[in-house]
Amino acid sequence: MLRHIGSVYPKIQQSIYPLIPGFPLNPFALWLGLNYNHRVPEEFASPINASTRICAVYGFPIRHSASPAMQNAGITALGLNWRYIACEVAPETLRAAIEGAKTMRFVGLNLTVPHKLLAVDFVDAFDESVKNWGAVNTVRIEGRDKNGVWLPIYEFTDTQPDKIRTQGFNTDADAITRSLHEDLGIQLAGARVLLLGAGGAGRVAALKLAAENVAELFLVNRTHSKASAVAAEIRRRHMNVKIQVGYPRGEVDLCINATSLGLSASDPLPFDNRQFSLRQALSVYDMIYRPAETPFLTAAKAGGSRIANGLGMLLYQGAKALEIWSGKTAPIAIMREALIKEVYRQ
Ligand code: ATR
Repeated sequence: MLRHIGSVYPKIQQSIYPLIPGFPLNPFALWLGLNYNHRVPEEFASPINASTRICAVYGFPIRHSASPAMQNAGITALGLNWRYIACEVAPETLRAAIEGAKTMRFVGLNLTVPHKLLAVDFVDAFDESVKNWGAVNTVRIEGRDKNGVWLPIYEFTDTQPDKIRTQGFNTDADAITRSLHEDLGIQLAGARVLLLGAGGAGRVAALKLAAENVAELFLVNRTHSKASAVAAEIRRRHMNVKIQVGYPRGEVDLCINATSLGLSASDPLPFDNRQFSLRQALSVYDMIYRPAETPFLTAAKAGGSRIANGLGMLLYQGAKALEIWSGKTAPIAIMREALIKEVYRQ
């Protein structure tokens, strides 16, 4: 993704407005575009009325979230009479907030830091993805019809469901590998990978890489015991993957930063450069997407590696969530443009 940002961003400005019917003849659309930086101006969304359904992201904090910009662009492009909002939900109120969404028949929820693990205990049913990755980032609210079939709740317009439930999904894990594949062109099967970080995101990435049959996985984390715990979990579940806690010798196909180092400009690099050089990595991926180029990626680029940041992960987890809720194919290009504009706006 990062490789494209420099060239894509100006093109977005040329390309997004012709997507809007009537532009540039409609000065109101121009005004909205310039002043509010809307991805798809509200006037082209369905007006809010008594049938409008709500999706939301819950997080704590949440005001930095780019998901509303991305999802509302996708929702509008699909012609849905929905709105996606961001709610600041403290962890101790998460259960009540999920129940509230169920009671008010929201379409669904996204969950972000610090709710993904907590929510496993607060949803009524799990998709296979939650069983695999142990975390919930997407919830669909469903009703049971008279034949006992669970359907998305918004499908009940004239009839009443006899029961309502929340079903949890995880769209993060697939988003990691989709982004690695599409943004770096990586073939994971058989690859040697160094993964920096064994927190929430690092653990899911490690398990997903193992499930994709990487040949060798090296795990490094400040707190050694967390990396060891993830390594033990992978040894139990994926016996064909060679897993080691520590730095690799020789070349790796991919090095991923899943630590939070790089969010702040004063952070050190997320690895020990006495034990590893980025020149050993053919491709380098940073899960951080703001700033677009962390010092880690700058160093990797200087060393000749292919690089990408984590914007693709954010995009693909959101696109999959929209597909889970709507049953429609997500308009990826429109969601990507909205996300880039939101994340990298001045
Ligand atoms: P997330 O859900 O985004 O993965 P997290 O679970 O808090 O967030 O994980 C943060 C990751 O960044 C962890 O790997 C953490 O290392 P520890 O497990 O040792 O805490 C890593 N990290 C955060 N601050 C760090 C620092 N100053 N130096 C090294 N690693 C750091």
